[in-house]
Amino acid sequence: MDGKQVRVPDFRKMKRRSEKITMLTAYDAAWSRLLDEAGVDTVLVGDSAANVVLGYRDTLPVTMDEMIVLCRAVSRGVTWAMVIGDMPFMSYNTSIPEAIHNAGRFIKEGGAVGVKLEGGTAVVDTVRAFVRAGIPTVGHLGLTPQTASMIGGYRCQGRTAPAARRILDDALLLQDAGVFLIVLECVPERVAAEVAKRVTVPIIGIGAGAGVDGQVLVLHDMLGFGRTGHSPRFVKRFGSVGAQALDAVTSYCREVQSGAFPAAEHGFAIPDEEWAAFEAGLGKSKVESRKSKGRKG
Ligand code: KIV
Repeated sequence: MDGKQVRVPDFRKMKRRSEKITMLTAYDAAWSRLLDEAGVDTVLVGDSAANVVLGYRDTLPVTMDEMIVLCRAVSRGVTWAMVIGDMPFMSYNTSIPEAIHNAGRFIKEGGAVGVKLEGGTAVVDTVRAFVRAGIPTVGHLGLTPQTASMIGGYRCQGRTAPAARRILDDALLLQDAGVFLIVLECVPERVAAEVAKRVTVPIIGIGAGAGVDGQVLVLHDMLGFGRTGHSPRFVKRFGSVGAQALDAVTSYCREVQSGAFPAAEHGFAIPDEEWAAFEAGLGKSKVESRKSKGRKG
């Protein structure tokens, strides 16, 4: 992109020019500022915030109110990247009016440009309603973590011919409903590339191979920060921020305990004459005199 604020039609232009789209997640202003500075096209305030920064076991418990606080922080950090708010579980599944209300909160309160929601056929009417209401909308197909238990867990989707066909049909349905991007998660490379070829909406892959129009990763996963245990095979670690942070915090503890921190250059001085006056007055401070009078009498 050329340094101007990223807008919805820019993504189709990028697809037409075969320019790859970059998306990463962020959950606060410090990181979104850094992503913006690095030139990331779009910042997703993912509901992965639930496990990544809020400590829940999966994405299901995170609420609209929690997502709005994070989204507002992320929006404050960016100047040109597009901020997308990820609709949490049950914020768009009960009724279309409630879904529009919640999506509108991401725009009005969270400062987002658009929203993302998971699902195909099941959410098409909601997507249409969002688009009619003027809310730029991103779809999410393949592995949809909010319904992981229904689709057999966190595993690759679209590995049979009918399942691959369903993903393509859902992508076409979402395109028809007016989404401007589709996230495609954990789908075989050939299937993802075929979907990207058959739709005009840019496809942003995560675990979907290189044949799509852009890529997204969870920031903390690609930085090697925060999450422990099993990492999905589609995550490439571009850094070891967690290890560096651990080193820094361990050094801080050691230096505080040994007295090496803070050193003279981290403190502030009082002018000598002020110090002398302060010391001279130490004989009896007003508070001390009052206290000793009180004790006597
Ligand atoms: O919540 C999230 O971070 C996401 C990305 C993995 C696409 O949905």
